[in-house]
Amino acid sequence: MVESSDEVQHGLQDVVALESRICFIDGKEGRLIYEGYDIRDLAARSTFEEVAYLLWYGRLPTTDQLAVLRHRLSQLRELPPSLAARIDSVPETATPMDVLRTAVSELALFEPEETRPGPSSIGGAQRLTAVLPSILAQFHRRRARLPRLEPRPDLSHAAYLLYALVNRVPTELEERALDVALILHADHELNASTFAARVTASTLSDLYSAVTSAVGTLKGPLHGGANERVMELLDEIGTADRVEEVVRAKLARHERIMGFGHRVYKVEDPRATILREWSRKIGEAKGDLRYYELLLKVEGVVHREKGLYPNVDLYSGSVYSHMGIPHDLFTPVFAASRVAGWTAHVLEEYQDLRLIRPMAKYIGPTDLPYVPIANRA
Ligand code: ACO
Repeated sequence: MVESSDEVQHGLQDVVALESRICFIDGKEGRLIYEGYDIRDLAARSTFEEVAYLLWYGRLPTTDQLAVLRHRLSQLRELPPSLAARIDSVPETATPMDVLRTAVSELALFEPEETRPGPSSIGGAQRLTAVLPSILAQFHRRRARLPRLEPRPDLSHAAYLLYALVNRVPTELEERALDVALILHADHELNASTFAARVTASTLSDLYSAVTSAVGTLKGPLHGGANERVMELLDEIGTADRVEEVVRAKLARHERIMGFGHRVYKVEDPRATILREWSRKIGEAKGDLRYYELLLKVEGVVHREKGLYPNVDLYSGSVYSHMGIPHDLFTPVFAASRVAGWTAHVLEEYQDLRLIRPMAKYIGPTDLPYVPIANRA
């Protein structure tokens, strides 16, 4: 057995793998910063398009720059007809994240210019960000028997996403709620999916391959899939008087309660603080505070029993549910925001390229005698 003196950092916990100017998380103070700006200011005052510009260009846009970007994104939404036909051919029972991963990968076949590695792939970053809602809509509208999607260049990214998924132009409050959710999800330093994107980009592979890796990584329930499971928990709980019993029983069985805990935050995730407020606001507007009130109670029990704080996923599902977004589209909605961060990180990786290639501590044998196949038991 070979012994390495190097200590293994399981899950790469606390390992600082690279330098980045894009995003800073202060896990002790519960702060999240994009390119120098506090997420609370961005969520209160900016739009998703402004934040995407910030992540790609490293500065907030002027009015003119923002108008140009909004126009550009609205013009980049259309799917190549063969890709639309291909999405129509997948089984209706497919999971939307599988469809998204496959479609992003296939899109590269039609747009080789946009996929080239290098700073010029900012065109690809914008194309991917603009087109993701259309991919989701192409799949979801067919299975939901909704009419074909009309191009709506007048709509913001948030309004278009909601229009594409639920087939109605959102109210001002809904548009703002989704816009805020998209801002909050747009980036989060070296989370698993962004790291996957950067690993792919670090081999000088193309932008679409990097985003395909990222979508596949976001799919997992420990990362992007948690908010869907939070809603399943609320369904299982049903009424407020059952919160204590259901949550405690799960904890006693050592089950994880989705929407709680975080690798980096040791206090409340600032995104959860903002989304809690939006869950209340949108619940009030819909005249239905059931989710909000159940979640507050779940929070109380989990904090008392385990000392865990909510993460971004605890309240986001309730906000999306109030807008009529189906549960299995929650993670794809996350992707429709995080794509801005993934692509910003890939562009940064291309600028300061170093192959990401860590090492494993080998714990197997090294001196086994080779056994010819005929002699193997
Ligand atoms: N419910 C119950 N117990 C938990 C939870 C939870 N949600 N999260 C952590 N713990 C417990 C673990 O069981 C473990 O306890 P133990 O030491 O007694 O075994 C301890 O806390 C440490 O857990 P780790 O998994 O080592 O912590 P890690 O930093 O790796 O976990 C993670 C982070 C994966 C997010 C975890 O908190 C989790 O599974 N949460 C639920 C899933 C979730 O909400 N994911 C969304 C994260 S945010 C995002 O990706 C957008």
